[in-house]
Amino acid sequence: MKLIKKLWVLVLFSTVSAMAFASSEAHLDKAPASLSDQASLQRGAKFFVVNCIACHSAAYMRYNRLADIGMTEAEIKTLLPEGSKLGSTMKAAMDSESAKMAFGAAPPDLSVIARSRGNDWLYTYLRSFYADATRPNGVNNVLFPLVAMPNILGGLQGEQALVVEKHEGGHEVQMLKLTTPGSMTTAEFDATVGDLVNYLDFMGEPAKLVRYKIGYIVLGFLFLLLILTYALKKEFWKDIH
Ligand code: HEC
Repeated sequence: MKLIKKLWVLVLFSTVSAMAFASSEAHLDKAPASLSDQASLQRGAKFFVVNCIACHSAAYMRYNRLADIGMTEAEIKTLLPEGSKLGSTMKAAMDSESAKMAFGAAPPDLSVIARSRGNDWLYTYLRSFYADATRPNGVNNVLFPLVAMPNILGGLQGEQALVVEKHEGGHEVQMLKLTTPGSMTTAEFDATVGDLVNYLDFMGEPAKLVRYKIGYIVLGFLFLLLILTYALKKEFWKDIH
């Protein structure tokens, strides 16, 4: 009996603390990513190769796998960095040691980042850099305080500032405000980051595409089976009623 009581207290306590933890976490925006949108995946792949592999590698991803999202060999070849072949993995241009010296932290491999962080986290993170003069590279990030990554998408997004609004009752709300526009509108930038996150999701588990396809085939087969079984049942019972 005593043990049950103790267990109850434990369950109650962990539920309450889980709720408190959840509410103190930063708000995540929903990533507009869909693995069935091949054009978006291709845009995301190009954007990734042009903007991210200067620092980050994707050691589990080979260029020729971009064929899985409908890119032709000729299209993939236009993306290849010098010295890479179709079968090469996506290696960072900068080696991890020099990057660590330059930025203070090594840029992690991004092959499976979508699995560890989730799409919504990535979508929010990449749009949450703001100007902070106290940081060595002039920026900070709402989701990743004291981040060492420079705001490499700042030219496209523009510059943001962190604004803290005091509401009645004393609670503060943090918001990001665009202070200098970039070369893209906010809608264009959000869509571009959406494509990029879509691609990161694909890269984290390329087999997902195949699995989805098999899923539809299985469902179609089960549906056919249902029709057949129903016809069979009618046949069996027709003399009894
Ligand atoms: C100029 C180098 C550089 C470029 C280019 C760059 N990053 Fe980074 N990135 C970093 C560094 C350095 C870190 C490590 C930050 C830290 O640990 O504080 C980082 C961290 C990250 C993280 C957080 C990883 C984690 O969970 O710890 C993500 C996600 C990320 N980068 C995505 C991207 C994407 C996507 C691009 C391309 C649009 C990109 N980065 C381009 C340097 C770069």
